[in-house]
Amino acid sequence: MNDDIVKLGKENYMNNYAQFPIAIKSGKGVTVIDEDGKSYLDFVAGIAVNALGYGDEDEKKALFDVISSGVLHTSNLYYNSHAVHAAAMLNKAAGSDAVFFCNSGAEANEAALKMARKYGSAKGKTEIISFMHSFHGRTYGAVTVTGQEKYHKGFAPMLPDVLYAEFNDLSSVEALASDKTAAIIVEPLQGEGGIIPAEKSFIEGLRSICDKYDALLVFDEVQCGMGRTGKPFCFMHYGIKPDIMTLAKALGGGLPMGAAVAFGKAKDIFSPGDHAATFGGNVASAALAEVVLSKLDELSQNADKMGKYLGAKLDNLKEKYPKLVSDARGLGLMRGLDLTIPPRDVISKCMEKGLLVCSAGYTVLRFVPPLIVTESDINKAVAIVDESLAELASH
Ligand SMILES: Cc1ncc(COP(=O)(O)O)c(C=O)c1O
Repeated sequence: MNDDIVKLGKENYMNNYAQFPIAIKSGKGVTVIDEDGKSYLDFVAGIAVNALGYGDEDEKKALFDVISSGVLHTSNLYYNSHAVHAAAMLNKAAGSDAVFFCNSGAEANEAALKMARKYGSAKGKTEIISFMHSFHGRTYGAVTVTGQEKYHKGFAPMLPDVLYAEFNDLSSVEALASDKTAAIIVEPLQGEGGIIPAEKSFIEGLRSICDKYDALLVFDEVQCGMGRTGKPFCFMHYGIKPDIMTLAKALGGGLPMGAAVAFGKAKDIFSPGDHAATFGGNVASAALAEVVLSKLDELSQNADKMGKYLGAKLDNLKEKYPKLVSDARGLGLMRGLDLTIPPRDVISKCMEKGLLVCSAGYTVLRFVPPLIVTESDINKAVAIVDESLAELASH
């Protein structure tokens, strides 16, 4: 039963999450079922993780094969075929040159930050520029470059030599950039900050600034990568390449996996001994990454098509509820409704009616469904949001 599990969780977990009082037990397609047997259409997907939804047959087979082999983990003292193939597939899909595997988004960003500092140390560069409203994870390096005060509060001191510019404001970056700049780290589509896409001229400008000062351009695609925005990787919307791209979330098909992906000169920054992760390239995670990567093109195409469909429907909700919805925005299947009321009110109502959605920042209702979502799923989900907004509007 949900209640028993929630109670046990409250008794035994640290108090660092504000969890909703249900426990998810099983799933199929875009639907999950809780411990009391109630079904939900899932437009959270484990926070942009479960790209293939639930119960994908190829994922099941890949995992059963790994389990049958008896080897779930090898360490990085040795190679394993799944991780090597996943790296090759990733490089082919992204047009990149080298991959470091780890276990999470924060860890992928730590790798990128260490690469930036190592790259800069030989040239007297130590500064890293990041952006207000960004989110890069909770480890010390990642949380330092996260440009939101609420994530720093109580945890000072942060990492030194990190400067914060305004997102989508190139002049604020120009004011901070110099020969001391080792890297600029940016989410091309800000997620936790409130689903805010970068403008094309802004990203082009960042590329030029990095080229001018011989700094590394790091794209955090932990949330917006892996097909979610309607292209295999978000940088592909902008006609430029970063020097490093970080990935996690959907990469491991539901198992923990992150990656720092290097393009060109960034490929040779690390030497043996510089960086490591015991579980990086774990056999089971890598086997699922192979499955996700083998479907990346079709997932991106569906994200593009369904993203436009969802986007149009969310625009309609903005028109219909001008007092509650101030903006509808996003790219592909990473979308948000900016609300004038707390998102949690809408989330709770949607949950009662059998839809899972989540928030981003203080005001945004976020939609990040599995990338296999259909028009019919979107119709049902938007109808529930519509009904929930109608009820809240009448209060
Ligand atoms: C853009 C971005 N970067 C990094 C992270 C951190 O990832 P993880 O929670 O796997 O450490 C997140 C998580 O939401 C994210 O959205």
